[in-house]
Amino acid sequence: MAEQTLDKPVFGLDIGSYTIKAAQVKYHGERAELYAASIVDMPDPKMTLSKKNRQGLIESIKKSVALSKPHTIDTKYVASALPESKAYSDIITLPQMEEEELKTAVPFEATKHMPLTLEESYIDFTVIETTKDKKIKILVVGAPRELVDFYREIIRAAGLELISLEIKPIAAARALLSPEMENQAILILDIGANNASITVFYKGNIVVASTVFSGGEAYVSAAAKELKISQEEALKMSEIAAHSEEKKERILRVLFPLFDDLVTKVQKAISFHASKNLKKPELDKILLTGGGAITPGFQEYIEQNVGVKTVVADPFINLKGEVVEKIPQAEVPAIATAVGLALKK
Ligand SMILES: Nc1ncnc2c1ncn2[C@@H]1O[C@H](COP(=O)(O)OP(=O)(O)OP(=O)(O)O)[C@@H](O)[C@H]1O
Ligand SMILES: [Mg+2]
Repeated sequence: MAEQTLDKPVFGLDIGSYTIKAAQVKYHGERAELYAASIVDMPDPKMTLSKKNRQGLIESIKKSVALSKPHTIDTKYVASALPESKAYSDIITLPQMEEEELKTAVPFEATKHMPLTLEESYIDFTVIETTKDKKIKILVVGAPRELVDFYREIIRAAGLELISLEIKPIAAARALLSPEMENQAILILDIGANNASITVFYKGNIVVASTVFSGGEAYVSAAAKELKISQEEALKMSEIAAHSEEKKERILRVLFPLFDDLVTKVQKAISFHASKNLKKPELDKILLTGGGAITPGFQEYIEQNVGVKTVVADPFINLKGEVVEKIPQAEVPAIATAVGLALKK
């Protein structure tokens, strides 16, 4: 979670509720190129990380390595991430002290604000800055020990080794924020299958993070029901909408009410950011990512109803190379978090 240097080559593994995404980059000097990527279905959607289908999950992780293209992932070291809804993060203030003392003081202080006890959690921290009155501001991230151990264990059972674990939006930001965006206030909206995460970044730090427990799956179901087609066929609703104006209208009519909940939560996050009295109280841009980002009408609806410039983000903005062009267009938004994990140095 802290931006430490990893001494081993890693690949990024993003275990979602719908698919598992893997990505590996190779460096040519400072420049990273995508070396391998894959998207593999979860054995049992919705059973994410539940212990019920442990074997299926292990097989899917193995597949994500074996089926990666255009190369096979060639490292066993994994950088992965937890959904922000499962982790806790906060900025705490402590009097100045030695590094060694911090190691006991920070967890002790952090658990006062956390829903878990010290025994039930793993805690990681980074010193952000020392204030004028000699106090230190520290970013603390805590995660349930049971969940972290489960990640480590299934990854090990797949023949791999977990060496870095952070929270998903931080990884996504590494892929999606270009150097020009580093001084801006940017909201990243990740539309997954069953979760949508809303995160505001200012100067690369998280200012606001929240989760809505619905996403692309609800959109696909609504479209399938309206058009009386299967879920599988409804996954292609972008193409359907592009070919038939009549069907497009029907799809949008059922989808718009579903987007409203998200619009409200995005507005809340924006107000919360504004209330923090940072130098930039207004957002520069909203970046859409995750498999649901290309849902018909979504980008326009968010832009119009929130009133902030909104674009589908490019997860390859910090990469170079032709591998990038070979990834099917519909799969591009889903791979962002895995690419960001792969970029962890
Ligand atoms: N070809 C496609 N065209 C349009 N939308 C798609 C396509 N494939 C997937 N989706 C949408 O993407 C969603 C899955 O997105 P993603 O892969 O980011 O989810 P996830 O990361 O597995 O889930 P979560 O983040 O909720 O755990 C699906 O529910 C569907 O709505
Ligand atoms: Mg996801």
